[in-house]
Amino acid sequence: AEDGYDLWLRYLPLPAAQAQPALAQLGTVSIPRQNEVQRAARDELMRGLSGLLGQAPREATAADAALLVVGTPASSPLVAQLRLPLKGLGAEGYLIRRVEHEGHLLTVVAAPGDVGTLYGVFHLLRLLQTGQDVASVDVREQPRLKLRMLDHWDNLDRSVERGYAGESIWDWHKLPGWLDPRYTDYARANASLGLNGTVLNNVNASAQSLTPAYLEKAAALAGVMRPWGIRVYLSARFSAPIEIGGLKTADPLDPQVRRWWADKADEIYRLIPDFGGFVVKANSEGQPGPQDYGRSHADGANMLADALQPHGGVVMWRAFVYSHEQPDDRAKQAYSEFVPLDGKFRDNVLLQVKNGAIDFQPREPFHPLFGAMPKTPLMMEFQITKEYLGFATHLVYLGALYEETLQSDTYRPTKGHTVAQVIEGQGHALSGMAGVANIGSDRNWSGSIFDQANWYAFGRLAWNPQQSARAIAEDWVRMTFSQDPAFVQPVVRMMMDSREAVVDYMTPLGLHHLMGRGHHYGPAPWDAGSERPDWDPVYYHRADHLGIGFERGSAGSNAVAQYAPALAKQFDDLSRVPERDLLWFHHVPWDHRMASGRTLWDEMVWHYARGVDEVASMRGTWAGLSAYVDAPRYQQVASFLAIQQQEAQWWRDASIAYWQSINGLPLPAGQAAPP
Ligand code: GCU
Repeated sequence: AEDGYDLWLRYLPLPAAQAQPALAQLGTVSIPRQNEVQRAARDELMRGLSGLLGQAPREATAADAALLVVGTPASSPLVAQLRLPLKGLGAEGYLIRRVEHEGHLLTVVAAPGDVGTLYGVFHLLRLLQTGQDVASVDVREQPRLKLRMLDHWDNLDRSVERGYAGESIWDWHKLPGWLDPRYTDYARANASLGLNGTVLNNVNASAQSLTPAYLEKAAALAGVMRPWGIRVYLSARFSAPIEIGGLKTADPLDPQVRRWWADKADEIYRLIPDFGGFVVKANSEGQPGPQDYGRSHADGANMLADALQPHGGVVMWRAFVYSHEQPDDRAKQAYSEFVPLDGKFRDNVLLQVKNGAIDFQPREPFHPLFGAMPKTPLMMEFQITKEYLGFATHLVYLGALYEETLQSDTYRPTKGHTVAQVIEGQGHALSGMAGVANIGSDRNWSGSIFDQANWYAFGRLAWNPQQSARAIAEDWVRMTFSQDPAFVQPVVRMMMDSREAVVDYMTPLGLHHLMGRGHHYGPAPWDAGSERPDWDPVYYHRADHLGIGFERGSAGSNAVAQYAPALAKQFDDLSRVPERDLLWFHHVPWDHRMASGRTLWDEMVWHYARGVDEVASMRGTWAGLSAYVDAPRYQQVASFLAIQQQEAQWWRDASIAYWQSINGLPLPAGQAAPP
């Protein structure tokens, strides 16, 4: 437990003042165990209550003796008898209530389907773990998104692209014969958040993952996930028909190619009857795709969709496309390629769009595709692993980033339509959110204790994108560490501020992609001259002796025109563009006057300093909290914060020194010169 393995599912004994009434309300349970989903829910309930209440609950022999009743109308005669309003909850929804039955009070977790009861059990446990009174509990929940996915960028050799938590948790070599118990704990953690899908392999996919040997391994994992309501998906390599099928082409309109994929789908579903479908990265960063044959993204996606359709599978086609052979602003390419295809995709295709138009930066304006393709279900792709945000050592709570994107107003079709509303489906049968996982074989799963919060926040937001990042952080802190307000309040504050801190010390005021080439760790705004200009930081900041920033207004690439007209106007206008996105949208003179009265240059320096100060203050906050945390976890966080402080300083010093080499400007009074 002190190594972080238990994540937010620690189930440590509650204080007596909470445990005693909870025992009186929940100490005798009736919960079915006829199938594997029911058994998963029951095992978790027993495990959770035993830990939290300090003793194992009794299982009622006759249902009417129970204090806590869990089930569906089909699995529990008592639930059926109570005639609860379960209509409209769907296969995954549930309710938790206190009801009177034959003169005594019962707590009921009821759902139309077994998976709903599993989610309800986790919710009830969370109420206890976060110190809520369950005496008058009244919860009615159902997910707002259909597909709630983790995408693993895991390779078959167990390396993880952009992974900072050890090697892949999938031990391909020993699968299918050996099922590491860790897989079950992984599934439990995901189910506790309501996540219902996992893509096992990297989007830069190996065709090997579709060979019989690997499909058997995937099937074994699907067997572990199934009781927890989780389906397995695979990243499909578009050229697999050539590489493992012996065909000469992967042209999506070629009948043999279509046959190959249909047969492959049949083969997969024979092994994995509830297989979820494919994620595809095509014609991006050198990956094969339909454009290699003069076909469109829709031709490619639809071919795979047709192969999966008879089995109920879906295609998540990624919109992260760009190519250095295309001279236009990289930020514009996805919109340019996909908007003309709106309405051309099959019903079982979703377009998976990253939160911003470049690539998982500390801050990006929301992707202009959101709201721009009303005839296509668009799903969100967030990154949980911190590729551009300091890997596993920097403490950055991504809930704040996710919330900022989700709450952005797209102005499409009119003002007041947020990104969250767009991905909620707007009438489409499918909807979803994917997070690039930060999970590896490290004992603490995510590379650091606080990175667990990013997995947690992603999962909670995938269930309901309208939730508050702060409230989610608070739940996580209570479940992971302590319920003491003297601990919870400062830690939640620190988490909420941590995101702005990293923006400040890495990429203030709309700067982006200034990280070292390739690894993306640490500052390298000077990197230039590589074979792909769109991988060079200088391509993005465009600093010269006059000013800095990427001109995406009407005077430049005009990427602003990809937003709804009202927003396009605002972003185009130097006096109205939000300052936080200033240099994303404009190339601005160093002496430009900011709202604060400072010049742009002075303001930049001020942001760098604030970022460093913020990390120093996070470190100070944590130093005062050692009494509330076990030594191993306390020490890891403290050490990582020390690394982060040093590296925030490095970012500030390196960035300032480099900008000064270009603009020749002095530092504002009181600012220390870089060493
Ligand atoms: C980023 C990342 C790559 C990844 C790509 C993607 O560019 O650096 O490693 O493959 O995103 O999302 O496809």
